[in-house]
Amino acid sequence: MKFLLCWTLLLSTLLATGQCGLPSATPLNEEQLRMALQVLDIFKAKCVDCHGADLPRPKGKFGYVLDLKRVVETPKYVVKGDPEKSDIYTLVRDDDMPGDDANVPPLTENEKAIVKRWIEMGAPSDLPPATESASAQAVAAEPSIFPITVHPMPLWKQGFRWLGRFHPLSTHFPVALMFVAVLAEAFAWWSRREGWIETVRFLVVIAALGGVSAAGLGWLNAWFTSYVGQSASILLWHRWLGTGTAVWAVICAGLIMTHECREGSLQRARFRGALLLGAFLVGVTGFLGSALIYGLDHYNW
Ligand code: HEC
Repeated sequence: MKFLLCWTLLLSTLLATGQCGLPSATPLNEEQLRMALQVLDIFKAKCVDCHGADLPRPKGKFGYVLDLKRVVETPKYVVKGDPEKSDIYTLVRDDDMPGDDANVPPLTENEKAIVKRWIEMGAPSDLPPATESASAQAVAAEPSIFPITVHPMPLWKQGFRWLGRFHPLSTHFPVALMFVAVLAEAFAWWSRREGWIETVRFLVVIAALGGVSAAGLGWLNAWFTSYVGQSASILLWHRWLGTGTAVWAVICAGLIMTHECREGSLQRARFRGALLLGAFLVGVTGFLGSALIYGLDHYNW
C-alpha cells in the first residue's frame, strides 16, 4: 500500500513537471489570436500559390507560409517585435512579395499594417490546433475579411509571359555558336586557309541574331519573375551583361561582314580579339543565368 502511494506521488509529480515543461502553454489572448488569424488569412490569400506546403517546388525553398509557428521560428523571416528587420514584413511592404508574376495583387495598406502590428506584438503564433484547422476551413468557406479581387492577367500579357519562357532555350544559340566560332577561327589561324572565314562569318552572324533574340526574350522573362536579395543582384548583372554581350556579338558580326579580314591582316587580328572577348562574355552571362536557377555555388565539387 505504502509502495503504491509512493508510485502515485512520483507519477503525479512527473506529470506535473512534464506539463510545466511543455512549450508556451499560455494561451493567446483575444487580440493576439485575432491578429494571428488575420495574418494567416492574408498569407492564405496572397502567398500559398508559391509558398504553399503542397507545392513540389515552393519558390525560394520556402514552402510553409501557413505554418505560422515555423515561419516565426525562422529568424531571417521574423524578428519578434521588429518588423523592419523581418523579411516577411519588408518584402510585403515593398511589394516584392507577392511578386510581379503573381496572380494576386500586392498587399493593401491595411494588410501591410496588420502584418506589421502582428510582428510588433511579438508575432504570436501558438494557435490552438483546433483553431488552426477551423480557421483554415472558415477562410476557405467564408468570404475573406480582406476581399481580394483577383485580376486575371490580360491575354497579351499572358502571351508575353509564355514567350519569355523561351529565353533559356534561346540562349543555347549564342552560347554554342560563339564558342564554335572561336574553334573555327583557331583552325583558320592554324591552317592559314582562307576558306575558314566563310564558316566563321556564318557562325558569328547567326550567333549575333541568336544573341539579340535571347536578350529580348530575357527582358520579357525577367518582367515576370520576383527575385529578391542576392538573386536580385545576380539578375541585375545577368541582365546587363547579357544585353552587352548581344550588342558585342552584333559588333563582331559587323566587323567580319564589312571588312575583308584577310588572314594576317590587322582587321583579322582585331576581329579575333573581339570574338574572344565575345565568347568570354557569353560564358560569364550564361554562368550568371544558371546561377539564378541553381545558385552561385552550382559548380562546387
Ligand atoms: C508568384 C509567386 C510568389 C508569391 C505569390 C509570393 N512569393 Fe515569396 N517568393 C517568390 C520567389 C520566386 C522567391 C524566391 C526569390 C529569390 O530566390 O530571390 C520568394 C521568396 C520569398 C521569401 C524568402 C526570401 C529569402 O530571401 O529567403 C519570403 C520570406 C517570401 N517569399 C515571402 C512571401 C510572402 C509573405 C508572400 C505573400 C504575401 C509571398 N512570398 C508570395 C515568389 C512568390
